[in-house]
Amino acid sequence: MSAGQVLNEGKSKKMITTDDPEVLIQYFKDDATAFNGVKKGIIGSKGKVNCAISARIFQWLETEGVKTHYRGLQSEIEMLVDRVEIIPLEVVFRNVAAGSLAKRFGIEEGTELDSPLQEFFLKDDDLGDPLLTRNHVLAFGWADDETMDHLIAEGRKVHDLLTEFWKGLGIKLVDHKLEFGRRADGTIVLADEITPDGCRLWEIGTDRKMDKDRFRRSLGKVEETYAEVADLVAKALPLDAQV
Ligand code: TMP
Ligand code: ASP
Repeated sequence: MSAGQVLNEGKSKKMITTDDPEVLIQYFKDDATAFNGVKKGIIGSKGKVNCAISARIFQWLETEGVKTHYRGLQSEIEMLVDRVEIIPLEVVFRNVAAGSLAKRFGIEEGTELDSPLQEFFLKDDDLGDPLLTRNHVLAFGWADDETMDHLIAEGRKVHDLLTEFWKGLGIKLVDHKLEFGRRADGTIVLADEITPDGCRLWEIGTDRKMDKDRFRRSLGKVEETYAEVADLVAKALPLDAQV
């Protein structure tokens, strides 16, 4: 599909128009940021690695009945996706306390939660992605009850599938962030990316970090670990031949 112009550029991806108004190219950059853009860097080959991981996981989620924006690959670093309007909420699910949850409640990182915890954050770097309740979303009119029910139920389904998927690769899904978008016909689909940028992944048995915390916390071996995750995902989930 031929590329048009850049519709918008975020910190780690850019969206590019195509000759089909309903289809965009999602271009994965090597750029990495943390702490709402305060820390900046480059993770070598991240674009390629994250594009491959996301493509394989989206394709698999579709076979499990999850509607996603994924349509195929345009290149090693470009994915074809439905044009959607992103719902500006980060839908976070957690199995283990880490990151902002551990800090907010003074809970030791690594504490297993009794049941999966779902949180909403407003997608707004300038405000520092504040934590939100469903009541805030309803009161501000950002989404209606039905949409919120859908995000929670569909998010939980994806969370359960991904928790089991990563477990099968010897990895504990500590927490992760999902984003949803609306197609022109109103259908809500899983959008954005599923990659080590938006998940905390710990090796089972050692708790070795296999995600963006290696970059956030300057733990070293960032590229190597992303590549390792990509290899594990590639072995588990073959990519369909691209048309
Ligand atoms: P947190 O512990 O910082 O709230 O992050 C929870 C999860 O959400 C973690 O896996 C990282 C992911 N995340 C993003 O992908 N983007 C973001 O902007 C933030 C704040 C978190
Ligand atoms: N994605 C956010 C940023 O770019 C937060 C993070 O991942 O730490 O700053």
